[in-house]
Amino acid sequence: MKPALLPLPRSVEERDGAFRLAPDAAIGFEGPASAREIAELLAEYLRPATGFALPVREGAGAITLVQAAPDPAPDDAGFLAEDYALDVAPGGVRLEAATSWGLARGVQTLRQLFPAEIYGAEARPGFAWEAPAVRIGDAPDFRWRGLMLDVSRHFRTADDVCRFVELLAQHRMNVFHWHLTDDQGWRVEIKKYPRLADVGSVRAETLVGKLGAWPHKFDGTSHGGCYSQDEIRRVVAFAARRRVVVVPEIDMPGHMSAAITAYPELGNGEWAKPEVRTTWGISQHVLNMEESTLAFCEDLWTEIMEMFPSKFLHIGGDEAPRHEWEESKRAQELMAERGLTKPEQLQAWFTKELDAFFRSRGRRLLGWDEILEGGVDPSAAIACWRTDWKGWGYVNDTVRAGHDVVLAPTSYAYFDYYQDEPVAEEPLAIGGMLPVSKVYSFDPHLTAVPPEAARRVLGAQGQLWTEYIATRDHLDYMAYPRASALAEVLWTPRERRRYADFLGRLGAHRARFAVQGVNARPRP
Ligand code: ACM
Repeated sequence: MKPALLPLPRSVEERDGAFRLAPDAAIGFEGPASAREIAELLAEYLRPATGFALPVREGAGAITLVQAAPDPAPDDAGFLAEDYALDVAPGGVRLEAATSWGLARGVQTLRQLFPAEIYGAEARPGFAWEAPAVRIGDAPDFRWRGLMLDVSRHFRTADDVCRFVELLAQHRMNVFHWHLTDDQGWRVEIKKYPRLADVGSVRAETLVGKLGAWPHKFDGTSHGGCYSQDEIRRVVAFAARRRVVVVPEIDMPGHMSAAITAYPELGNGEWAKPEVRTTWGISQHVLNMEESTLAFCEDLWTEIMEMFPSKFLHIGGDEAPRHEWEESKRAQELMAERGLTKPEQLQAWFTKELDAFFRSRGRRLLGWDEILEGGVDPSAAIACWRTDWKGWGYVNDTVRAGHDVVLAPTSYAYFDYYQDEPVAEEPLAIGGMLPVSKVYSFDPHLTAVPPEAARRVLGAQGQLWTEYIATRDHLDYMAYPRASALAEVLWTPRERRRYADFLGRLGAHRARFAVQGVNARPRP
């Protein structure tokens, strides 16, 4: 049995023999409560397919998890070390890490050493649950390894979102960026402002086919969905058990039509009356920049912070047209009062206020790269996405200016793009072309800046915008195997990565997808 591990670990030493999980096996742990938590997670992973009881107990077991000391405080981006050592021998398995994050990653590697059937939901009596003997030493290349899911354009249930998180965790990814609000629907309960859910979460109907095709046709069916705060907490807890951070995005001051529809006082006057949008594209309606609107946003961020413990909070900030501010007398007054000369400085004012608000609460602001326009404090992190338009030079400038960066480039990480020719044979997509091979060729190391600046690249994430992705199967199809390729790009050192080798392991990995009912794209 040759292990087909994905992403490929730093070092894998194959040895003789195999470990066989016996029906009376116990999972042991040595160390703090966090080691017990991960041992419980492992047992929960292994029980359904094996049908074994797999009690978790302190001390040695057939599989033993070892953590010498409690988890230290996270670093300034909210991360813990993730290195681990996994020793699989015929006599037993030992997984050691300095943190529970390392143990959580090692658990995913150990699962991949068993046959793909281990991912099944039904017990298989009499099956030989063997893992080849290996010694693995492992650590990720980048700290931020994530996927973004847009649940505004098409809502997914909390259970579907948990499944999405579980699949990314299997790839030893660690960030789930949850794009919770947009022009086409507000998806998170805010107790102080109930109309966000009641009014903002429902659109009357949805465009059928491409935005660029005329005349527009609609499906005549309302589309809604909004997570209660309890549901949000359930997803966050599900992710936290897997040592995955959930970063919430509430996109502002653009992409706010749903909120402005619910609370028109957030908008720019009587004539600027938006609706929860039924088509795609960029809305001209943006928040007004009143102090009262800032206060509204701080209130809702306060509730978001109570639900999401992540260090980073994502304020979006992308694609906020300035026409309304240019037209509005009141916006001109606000600019004069604040000593601003250009409308984009209104957005910069707003971003700076939110940045100060977050910092006063021990959090950090993250936004799409548009928030650089007009200036933002270097402690804010930037999600760089516009590489196709702007080239990579601005990414270099951004890290040189002292910002931490999350790479989210359209050119390598927009998983809403087509993934193969001929596009006529693919499900309808937003456009673009991003085959798995191109994702795999992505190198997130910046080479044109000094090493201390290059280290400000925290990592990268794949984007699943869902204008054209209405079902869970279609979401699987767009995400995988491209997200598998991205996981390896971010985990495995550059010099160990070979596309042909990845494709070889992907074959075995597909069996894991199949057992779990993941509708991954069958090629390449
Ligand atoms: C984006 O794609 N508007 C970040």
